[in-house]
Amino acid sequence: MPVSTIVATSSSDLKSAYDKDGHCSLPYRFTDGSVELLRRRVAAISAQTRPEVVHEKDSGVVRAIHGCHEFDDVCRALVSHPVLVELARTLIGGPVYVYQFKVNLKQAREGAAWPWHQDFAFWSQEDGMPRPDAVNIAVPLDDVHEDNGPLLVIPGSHDLGLFDLPVRSERTSDWRQHVSDDLAYTVSAERAERMIEERGKALILGGAGSLHAFHPSIVHSSSNNRSADRRALLLITYNAVDNAPADPTRPPFLVGRDTTPVVARGDERLVVEPA
Ligand code: SIN
Ligand code: MN
Repeated sequence: MPVSTIVATSSSDLKSAYDKDGHCSLPYRFTDGSVELLRRRVAAISAQTRPEVVHEKDSGVVRAIHGCHEFDDVCRALVSHPVLVELARTLIGGPVYVYQFKVNLKQAREGAAWPWHQDFAFWSQEDGMPRPDAVNIAVPLDDVHEDNGPLLVIPGSHDLGLFDLPVRSERTSDWRQHVSDDLAYTVSAERAERMIEERGKALILGGAGSLHAFHPSIVHSSSNNRSADRRALLLITYNAVDNAPADPTRPPFLVGRDTTPVVARGDERLVVEPA
């Protein structure tokens, strides 16, 4: 069955799961060759000295790279991949553009945690995104298992609004505190525990190349990577075109300025197959 048919037939189930739980995993994946190509590009970018490359505070290893679709042709092709664009359009319900592109590398033994937080807290408070009408599409570039710091989400928490926002006068405007383990906008551990008692929690596990989506308001975290296996997670955030912030000030590699709708375009180097 062609992938476009799989996407079309699964899209209403995906949308129901996404609307109810705030996350879903997809029945298809990028091929090993596609993942290998992306890994090579990530390695090359990680070796560069540029503001888009962020390091762990303690160990100095690369924590994340940002905005790669603006300067790397494989990453540029990826954001236009028909499967990703169709999925984002289905989950958001209209034309989309690329708000953010990043790869969180979570290096073996060194990769640090992401405390409980909601992405929309950053995007609304720092950038002025009007509504959480965006979606994160996650593609692990390594196998993700319980011990290499998988994403942990609280199902259904995307529907409850934003929690624990700091008062305006105590906010930091340093974007580095939006990409470090010392996050500027967190949900308290006590609140997360109470929510988990009520709603449970879900680990986002999957092989390299698998595809997952999660909502900007879902409460999520991930732990330190204490294993011998790296856990690189590529994340593309698509935003509804009519939900673009009016006047963002954070760097363009954190907040995409080009709000032109993404046109789906296949690339023979990036191939999706049934999972
Ligand atoms: C992670 O890479 O584990 C965290 C990703 C996120 O918070 O969006
Ligand atoms: Mn997040």
